[in-house]
Amino acid sequence: MRKIVLLTGAGISAESGLGTFRDVGGIWSQYDLEDVATPRGFVRNPTLVHDFYNARRANAMAASPNAAHAALARLEAEWPGDVVLITQNIDDLHERAGQRTVIHMHGELMQGLCVLCGARWPVAGEMSAAGRCPACDCVATRPDVVWFGEMPYHMEEIDRHLRDAELFAAIGTSGQVYPAAGFVMLAAAAGARTININLEGADGNDAFEESLIGPATRIVPAWVDHLLATV
Ligand code: APR
Repeated sequence: MRKIVLLTGAGISAESGLGTFRDVGGIWSQYDLEDVATPRGFVRNPTLVHDFYNARRANAMAASPNAAHAALARLEAEWPGDVVLITQNIDDLHERAGQRTVIHMHGELMQGLCVLCGARWPVAGEMSAAGRCPACDCVATRPDVVWFGEMPYHMEEIDRHLRDAELFAAIGTSGQVYPAAGFVMLAAAAGARTININLEGADGNDAFEESLIGPATRIVPAWVDHLLATV
């Protein structure tokens, strides 16, 4: 087997202390996603939206990558074929675990975006409605995250990878949000083996051939050991 395509979601960062969205007590039970994760919400109240992402950025910066992130970085380093990591997460824990290539389909918390000129820049602290674009000096700035109703990033590249995947694994995602939730069908149609790794068996994850149930920090390192032992 040469090409492995991985899709990660909030569950892989849960044991690093970052909240998931749809679990009991998750982020979408504390906030209305219409208010903080849509273009309409941002137009209505940019300060509320910036506050939401400022808090999440501070949480992410205070968190550390866990054993599951580290195991995927080891897979990328040691697997003799291609390993493509697509993440729905906007945190940078994969990169901080040593993953060299990460496709952030829902954008990146640690980056600002200018709506006017398209510039992107690193953000380590807070953003605000008065924040200026470092390239064109306008105030049409926002976190570089993909909101509901917007087009996820890198879809053509992702589509190409899914079409020649031999193994597709989803880790810590509820399979509720498209287009990511549909990747399993595309990969399976292209002939890939499909495997789901999740704390729970249910959700929108019944399209997978195989599933491994348990916390990512336990299951992912063991699964990576197993894969690398087959090389
Ligand atoms: N190990 C493995 N899986 C876990 C763990 C864990 N320790 N903890 C939680 N999970 C699983 C849950 O069972 C659930 O299936 O992680 C999944 C988290 O699901 P969601 O909260 O829906 O997160 P995700 O699938 O990443 O959400 C997709 O929705 O709101 C948007 O843009 C946001 O990227 C996000 C997208």
